[in-house]
Amino acid sequence: MTDKDYKALVLFFDDYTTGFINQAVNAHPHLTKKKHTVRVVENIVFLGEKLGLSPQQMRLAKAAALLHDIGRFSQFETYGTFYDHASKNHGALGVGVIREHRLLSSWPMVEKKQIVRSIALHNSYHLPLKMDKDTLFLTRLLRDADKLDIFHVVTQNYLGADPGENGYLTLNLPDDGLISKRLFERILNGELIDNQQIQSVNDLKLLQISWVFDLNFKATMERVSCCDFIFRIISTMPNSERRTFLIAFMKAHMAKKIA
Ligand SMILES: [Fe+2]
Repeated sequence: MTDKDYKALVLFFDDYTTGFINQAVNAHPHLTKKKHTVRVVENIVFLGEKLGLSPQQMRLAKAAALLHDIGRFSQFETYGTFYDHASKNHGALGVGVIREHRLLSSWPMVEKKQIVRSIALHNSYHLPLKMDKDTLFLTRLLRDADKLDIFHVVTQNYLGADPGENGYLTLNLPDDGLISKRLFERILNGELIDNQQIQSVNDLKLLQISWVFDLNFKATMERVSCCDFIFRIISTMPNSERRTFLIAFMKAHMAKKIA
């Protein structure tokens, strides 16, 4: 894959997403995803530089970041939600867009397979046990770069910094003002929470906090820690014993990981 190939993808991305933005009754969700994508590309460059990627690896990583959520636009247009369980898996939808528009048709087969697989798996709960090492590395990088920006977006939203958001980022889940014992205990066991286990806004916050257990690189953890994402999310949860415990537990866990 060459610089020219990457530039062609950037042009496609801009054109394709502008189409959804111009046609939508409410363009806010589409704009949010477009801006998210731009920041995920920036995040992957940040992580890639920390990890010493070659120019070729960096181009591939940028392309994966650029296309990772390309399925989000048709998802929202068709189903009116970003909730995969109430619509379709957006990783798979993204692979469909790549195929439909033959976006990678001129690419070497090895790179094409790596990028398609990383996009298909960027949002999966667990990665398959058997993956070739280059695809695994790219997928891990993409998952971390993506989570870094989701932390940014949801923190802003929970703190009320984005007045145009009308519930789509919290998947229109109810807020029952409680921290679920079941999911709280999963966090204390250091377990990743699955999308299928959430029923309320606070469940969603616990799920996002549990992503800390699924970060792949120390540089990602350092960024999460320095931006204070986790504690800003927890600060918006109901004031309770569980919340106090959560703060202490996550502080200790993160300090250990970046020591
Ligand atoms: Fe994303």
